[in-house]
Amino acid sequence: MGCNIGTILVTGGCGFIGSNFVRFMLRKYDYKIINVDKLTYAGNLENLSDISDHPNYEFVRGDIADKALIEGLASKGIGAVINFAAESHVDRSIEDPRVFIETNVLGTQVLLEAARKYGILRFIQISTDEVYGSLGTRGSFKEASPLAPNSPYSASKTAADLLVRAYYKTYGLAAIITRCSNNYGPYQFPEKLIPLMISNALEDKSLPVYGDGMNVRDWIYVEDHCRAIELIMHRGKGGEVYNIGANNELSNIEIVKIILKKLNKPESLIKFVEDRPGHDRRYAIDSTKLRNELGWDVIYPFEKAIDRTIRWYVEHQDWWKKIKSGEYLTYYERMYGHRL
Ligand code: NAD
Ligand code: TYD
Repeated sequence: MGCNIGTILVTGGCGFIGSNFVRFMLRKYDYKIINVDKLTYAGNLENLSDISDHPNYEFVRGDIADKALIEGLASKGIGAVINFAAESHVDRSIEDPRVFIETNVLGTQVLLEAARKYGILRFIQISTDEVYGSLGTRGSFKEASPLAPNSPYSASKTAADLLVRAYYKTYGLAAIITRCSNNYGPYQFPEKLIPLMISNALEDKSLPVYGDGMNVRDWIYVEDHCRAIELIMHRGKGGEVYNIGANNELSNIEIVKIILKKLNKPESLIKFVEDRPGHDRRYAIDSTKLRNELGWDVIYPFEKAIDRTIRWYVEHQDWWKKIKSGEYLTYYERMYGHRL
């Protein structure tokens, strides 16, 4: 089944959430999926090696900021664009913001323009709760909360959201923005908190916790995020913003202790290190709109999904060891060398 969408152009499908989404959709629907991905350090063809021969799947290596490439693809009769492609790591954006603007802002504009030119009716911008900035101890982000990004990463995602809004208001492009909280699950690049901590613990390396470890994130299992995007693609309303979250707030130190306990590793591996500049204290997302209007809910509670996630990293050590032994190591040294 599946509306009259036909072909979906997924961008950034070789990354963490994009690869989970492509696999999820190919299993469930007959849509043709074209995945355009630049294969940056975070894009890994292995993330989709199990479905690379699927008859409904096509991979195109390319940059979303490449107008000729994107317009060429858009002209093929695309029913929906789902834009996952992004530079996604806050720490890297602090080191060098430029590529965040090139991909997250200019790349999104190229996609929006192609959608406008070729009359693509469904355009989903995969944004983030980080556009709302940081919360104190109380409250949660609503769709109408002020945009107040604090890192070059979140500023670039906010700029993209504003372009999406402008394309809706100015040109009537019925694009939709989703703002999800922190994801976890299989195929997440091991520079992000959960896979970094699991893989370091498995290697008996220290676990670098920024500041006092009391920063809070609102964690959602990646497949629940994919299910929300599926629903929004089919039934979401053009011009709207939908927050996505699982009501699952945990401090970083709590997460790290849970991982150590489940892997039977000592807490002495925890190392408090210099804080991230501009480090947002707390994120919490209110997804009432998505729940009430589209009937979405979580099906993977944290307790089960974190077990499943840890098991995946235990069983796929080749996957992350290959990553950690390559270019990633130089990056790791640069980021943590002076901190540890
Ligand atoms: P990721 O870094 O794992 O993957 C990004 C993918 O985009 C990679 O495959 C990369 O090669 C590709 N890419 C980068 N620049 C590109 C370009 N110019 N052209 C084409 N492809 C390019 O990221 P992720 O964690 O899967 O996040 C996906 C999206 O979801 C991002 O837009 C991010 O802002 C958003 N998001 C992520 C989270 C999270 O917790 N990971 C939460 C909310 C929203
Ligand atoms: P991260 O996975 O980078 O996601 P984001 O910054 O987009 O929320 O980080 C999640 C939290 O974990 C954040 O508060 C920063 C913290 N953190 C550490 O304490 N140590 C680390 O080595 C990393 C990568 C993150």
